[in-house]
Amino acid sequence: MDEKIVLLGAKGMLGSDVYDLCTQNNLDITPYDLPEFDITDQAQLEKVLENTNIVINCAAYTDVEKAETQSELAFKVNAEAVANLAQIANNKNIYVIHISTDFVFDGKKELPYLETDQTNAINTYGKSKLAGEESLTENHNYFSIIRVQWTYGKNGNNFITKIISLSQQRNNLKVVDDQFGSPTSTKEAAKIICEFVAKKPKGIFHYTSAGFASRYDTAKFVFEKLRKDIKLSPCKSNEFKTAAARPANSRFCCDKIQSLLDKPIKVWQKPLERFLETL
Ligand SMILES: NC(=O)c1ccc[n+]([C@@H]2O[C@H](COP(=O)([O-])OP(=O)(O)OC[C@H]3O[C@@H](n4cnc5c(N)ncnc54)[C@H](OP(=O)(O)O)[C@@H]3O)[C@@H](O)[C@H]2O)c1
Repeated sequence: MDEKIVLLGAKGMLGSDVYDLCTQNNLDITPYDLPEFDITDQAQLEKVLENTNIVINCAAYTDVEKAETQSELAFKVNAEAVANLAQIANNKNIYVIHISTDFVFDGKKELPYLETDQTNAINTYGKSKLAGEESLTENHNYFSIIRVQWTYGKNGNNFITKIISLSQQRNNLKVVDDQFGSPTSTKEAAKIICEFVAKKPKGIFHYTSAGFASRYDTAKFVFEKLRKDIKLSPCKSNEFKTAAARPANSRFCCDKIQSLLDKPIKVWQKPLERFLETL
């Protein structure tokens, strides 16, 4: 059988960039997403996986705040559906590329997180994504899990578009300087996923842009590049009341994934600058 790829969550922020890149590369990829396709519907899932040898799962319940009150739905999409996906893929020997998150960690580590570090999710979204990872690991052995963090792209809500939109409504902004990560372009992440389609590595991998920054450093960079005149002040996470706790440290060690890749991972500033030019 020729290589046939099924993409779940194809209209999402990451999924849409994965779809664009795969079609540009002339890969045989079929996109699925709500409302026509629901990953929690086992019969639909079985049907779309009938004649495929690779599935890329970008579908997820991603509203971190709402997950605190909609935990049943978050677990249904991020965990139960992934367990079904794993079982079907295992029966059919389908290679699964599953996307996960830094929210599987509590963020208390001082150094960048390794794939082997102890997980400990601190909010419902993170717990549901962790349960999804565990289901895949327990029920299948031909898979990769790519954990990403602080992603931004053209088709979705993210920190970068959120601060830009806030800056259009007010002339001063407080941004936390005690959360650290690496702003990561979904276009760059899509390139990595395409390499995984070709190479089919197995196991858990961490992927982010190179280098790291605080949320405040990131906002400063964005407004400097946009030449936006705004009063930006640093603050602490505990000054913001949110339903879901956030990990303070979202930094990843990407040595494992880098050793597989054709090119060095780019530092975060370059792709972000290019993204800002497109707005
Ligand atoms: N954004 C980040 O900063 C970030 C960080 C770490 C990890 N991730 C992970 O990256 C992956 C991609 O997320 P994203 O940022 O692209 O988020 P996204 O834009 O919310 O994409 C998720 C997609 O899944 C779809 N979906 C939700 N429920 C579904 C269901 N029951 N059946 C089928 N499709 C469903 C969504 O549709 P609707 O929009 O209609 O709900 C959406 O198109 C996820 O695994 C996420 O956990 C994201």
